[in-house]
Amino acid sequence: MSKTPTINKLNLLKEEAGLKIGNALTELDINSVYKEYLGKKGEISLFLKNIKNLPEEEKPYAGKLANDLKQEIQESIQSKIKELKEKGDDETSIDITLEGRKLKRGSLHPISQVMEEIIIFFSRLGFEVLEGPEIESDYYNFEALNFPKNHPARDMQDTFYISENLVLRTHTSPMQIRAMANRKPPIRVIAPGKVYRCDSDITHTPMFHQIEGLMIDENITFSDLKGILTLLVRKIFDKDIKLRFRPSFFPFTEPSAEVDIECVKCKGKGCRICSNSGWLEILGSGMVHPNVLKNVNYDTSKYQGFAFGVGAERIAMLKYDIDDIRKFYYNDIKFLNNF
Ligand code: PHE
Repeated sequence: MSKTPTINKLNLLKEEAGLKIGNALTELDINSVYKEYLGKKGEISLFLKNIKNLPEEEKPYAGKLANDLKQEIQESIQSKIKELKEKGDDETSIDITLEGRKLKRGSLHPISQVMEEIIIFFSRLGFEVLEGPEIESDYYNFEALNFPKNHPARDMQDTFYISENLVLRTHTSPMQIRAMANRKPPIRVIAPGKVYRCDSDITHTPMFHQIEGLMIDENITFSDLKGILTLLVRKIFDKDIKLRFRPSFFPFTEPSAEVDIECVKCKGKGCRICSNSGWLEILGSGMVHPNVLKNVNYDTSKYQGFAFGVGAERIAMLKYDIDDIRKFYYNDIKFLNNF
């Protein structure tokens, strides 16, 4: 068939419509292409209406060709609509001037932050980090630490008993025994973890966190203990903070000392927080008692060392000026966002 005006016209429409369908980005675009070619007053419709005015010789095939084209355009529009639907949101409907949705970044719980700071401090000094069971036997929690049965010092540790010989550990000190039983001196370990005591008020929760420290070798003295704890306290609080070692008692250390820091609130003048003493107690420590060393079969004429136990909540309360320990456990996002 030679190219007649009808064929030329239809080829042109086919080309135009194909381009417009290909370029359509949204359903709105495709609807207007539909209207332009297949709508009541669309190009194809008008063409069909006009067939009767065509030259006689073109009439026989013009109808068929126009109807074929109509169907072809319909099909391409259908498949384009399907394609756009599959793509989901219209790309062009994204308003790039809108502010993006921000992802909120979480942070470590303040207690975890304090624990981590202390762990990093001791790791840098070459201490090994150990973890141990929270359900502990009477032997590790008390007996081996020189608290004989019925010893009044057991009273200080409001113990949750699980059975006669099992307790929720009341401190991390049982890790001293576990560490020594599995190692030979020199020993440098810390043991962070949860401990439990049957006590609850604004400065006590039934579960809290401690970090135990233990160093045993042939020439460890009280000066080493003082040196290391002084460095620790300066690292956590501030480099000029004053501290003092106050004589105390623990069955598993002799001599024993509690470490106080100058009151962070009143700087030693005396206030409500420090009960007017100017000092705040922050940890317990001492030289490991010879009975404890004997319990793990260490030669006490050769080895000695020190131990200490720090409460993470206590440190966090003083460091971040928090008056009620229970705030750490309410999971109030407004409180936690401060850290
Ligand atoms: N375990 C003691 C407590 O919880 C603290 C402590 C640890 C004291 C190590 C001395 C040596 O009270």
